[in-house]
Amino acid sequence: MSKTSTNSKKTLLSGVKPTGKPHIGNYFGAMKQWVDLQNNPEFTGDKAQKFFMIADYHALNFIQNAAEMKQNIIDLALDYLAIGIDPKQSIIFKQSDISAHTELAWIFDTITTMPYLQRAHAYKDAEAKNKEISVGAFNYPMLMCADILLYDVDIVPVGQDQKQHVEYARDTAIKFNHIFGGEKDKDNNPTSPVFKLPEPMIMESVATVPGLDGRKMSKSYGNTIPLFASYDEIKKAVMSIVTDAGLGAVAADGTVSDGIPKNIYEIHKLIKPEAELKPLYEANKGKYKALKDALVEDLEAFIKPMRERRALLAQDNDLVMQVLADGASRARMQAEKRLAAAKQAVGVSF
Ligand code: AMP
Ligand code: TRP
Repeated sequence: MSKTSTNSKKTLLSGVKPTGKPHIGNYFGAMKQWVDLQNNPEFTGDKAQKFFMIADYHALNFIQNAAEMKQNIIDLALDYLAIGIDPKQSIIFKQSDISAHTELAWIFDTITTMPYLQRAHAYKDAEAKNKEISVGAFNYPMLMCADILLYDVDIVPVGQDQKQHVEYARDTAIKFNHIFGGEKDKDNNPTSPVFKLPEPMIMESVATVPGLDGRKMSKSYGNTIPLFASYDEIKKAVMSIVTDAGLGAVAADGTVSDGIPKNIYEIHKLIKPEAELKPLYEANKGKYKALKDALVEDLEAFIKPMRERRALLAQDNDLVMQVLADGASRARMQAEKRLAAAKQAVGVSF
């Protein structure tokens, strides 16, 4: 009989690192899908299990200051609540509260080769920048495999840049099941697989949200619009969106501006249907100030209710602690079961 879960309920899991304020790229690329899935009739209530993790051990590769780490964790938990993750329906937890994650990551390390990890995009990017990379950052994908595989996850809703990591989790589940999953059947499949194979879920239309300069919106490029930005922060960010010189202007590469500023439009279309945007941009060809003003107002209308909700939630000092304690105890039960199965399969516990 298979050792994987017989539970027919769908399970989804995702997470963000508490490395600073989330931006609208994180929201539209990943976090909005979490809320939409939670509220989708197929997944809502107890129809599905939904785990939303604060990836603090991942963040430790970047944040090495206790006060800052603590604040970032509390802030991110509030962010989850403010966007509409409901702790009654979903499990919000902190990775470091569940020791099974690091324990399982070790087991995965032993069946993983260096060249395999050297192929990870994040590692290659760091190498290309000649950065000295920590062992933790190099090994990041294996911890992420554990995050996912401990919970028998079916779906991992993330942005495009995390696709490879989810594929690593799939590969690692296959490899572990192949080595430790018992006899093979006639199709060479293990008869007692331990881990379920997860699938990434990526919304193609927002797979990579562009930032103020047209590159991927990213904390590390400083080209973001914070998800809970104040009106002044929104204004400052929008006014710094990089545009060409205006209708008819000829760029260095010889292209002639059509007066539709792509970098403004691409952000605008996240919050306004294109059917409404097209006439607005046609009517204001080349008038970049007017278009930026319109974007500021639309962003404010979109962000304001979430910002206010967050401020309200932040007044309750115990809320985050309670949510995380409750989430940890619910997540732990499940994680420990799967870790026990893995330890038994490799032969260290009996
Ligand atoms: P990170 O900020 O790297 O912890 O990312 C958290 C989540 O947001 C991940 O699922 C990313 O794939 C997603 N994400 C980050 N930046 C973007 C972006 N510019 N466009 C779309 N998704 C993004
Ligand atoms: N690596 C993800 C990021 O940088 C965060 C993360 C950690 C995650 N563990 C995960 C996402 C498990 C989905 C599933 O955004």
